[in-house]
Amino acid sequence: MIYFDNSSTTKALKEIIDTFVTVNEQYWANPSSIHEFGHQTDELLQSARKQVADVLKTVDEKVYFTSGGTESNNLAIFGLANKYKHRGNHVLISAIEHPSIIEAAKMLQKQGFIVELIPVNKEGYIKLEELDSLLRHDTVLVSVMHVNNETGAIQPINEIASLIKSKSRAVFHMDAVQSFGKMVVNFDEQYVDAITISSHKIHGLKGSGLLALKSTIEITPILFGGGQESGVRSGTTPVPLSVCTAKAIRIANANLNTHMESILKMSEEVTTFLKKFSSIKIISPEIKAPHIVSFSVRGVKGEVFINALQKEDVIVSTSSACSSKQTQTSHVLKAMHLEDDYIKGVIRLSFSYMNTPEEVQQFKRIFTKVMNVIKGD
Ligand SMILES: Cc1ncc(COP(=O)(O)O)c(C=O)c1O
Repeated sequence: MIYFDNSSTTKALKEIIDTFVTVNEQYWANPSSIHEFGHQTDELLQSARKQVADVLKTVDEKVYFTSGGTESNNLAIFGLANKYKHRGNHVLISAIEHPSIIEAAKMLQKQGFIVELIPVNKEGYIKLEELDSLLRHDTVLVSVMHVNNETGAIQPINEIASLIKSKSRAVFHMDAVQSFGKMVVNFDEQYVDAITISSHKIHGLKGSGLLALKSTIEITPILFGGGQESGVRSGTTPVPLSVCTAKAIRIANANLNTHMESILKMSEEVTTFLKKFSSIKIISPEIKAPHIVSFSVRGVKGEVFINALQKEDVIVSTSSACSSKQTQTSHVLKAMHLEDDYIKGVIRLSFSYMNTPEEVQQFKRIFTKVMNVIKGD
């Protein structure tokens, strides 16, 4: 199988699965228990938290382990907006956010906040002049993703953050689910207050991830109970998953340059290949994360290609895994005003360092064959 759908999920590393098994076998106590076994388990949990804090260069107390990107994004939207609501009730998110931000923000609106969308241009980048005019003195929260999961577009995070800081007192949250481990993410240097990371996008385990805050930022919980995770995320902390999250983050960070280089080579080669077909339009813009290549074949539904490629054991997806089972057109492509001829034909290839140049060569052969059958190109 050639798996080019790494933005949907990645294969867990063997060493991470081994760690999961070991921690479950040896440190299965409740880390909140006051007996020695509980203490030992808690020590392991706190060392995992410290490892994450060291990579992100924030303080340990502001790293909260969660069930993944969706929960972290929900926590950021509800938790930050509510924490700072004494400053105002205006919230901004970009028009191309992941549904875990958009749907949470819709709910926030029902609870009395005013939520507005920051539009993007044809390439999928936030319009800075629009952000400038949308920011208000009572804006409490702005949430913008670092890399878009459908196109790979990288947002100009530092420019966005400077604008926010110069015009408001808003807290700035960045969904880094598609950027962390794929490109440089300097949480300490960026004027970003909160960051979401999901483990299963970086060869860790599904159902795990984190929200981290800068040391001065505070947050209101969305889960209430025993007060675990400094009161921010009640529920017995899943130590094995949290240790594996820390390990996935460490491995991704330590090997970033080599991983980026190999992914970039593969995606550049595929892009050059795709550009040769007259009916293909590359949707991914110029400034994009290396692992995503999004393109569209004029007049052919993306599903047709996905099924045809699957018969040849090549796994790709439509614009995003989340929307691919739904019949509606992607909100991201609509926000980019992609032409009707192309909008239904979008296919996303997403690479990992686990892919090989040989797979790329094979993909080129198989895609050419499929294209001949479907388009007669
Ligand atoms: C940009 C982005 N944010 C958030 C998520 C949700 O992450 P998780 O699957 O860990 O809930 C995804 C998953 O596709 C994503 O691509």
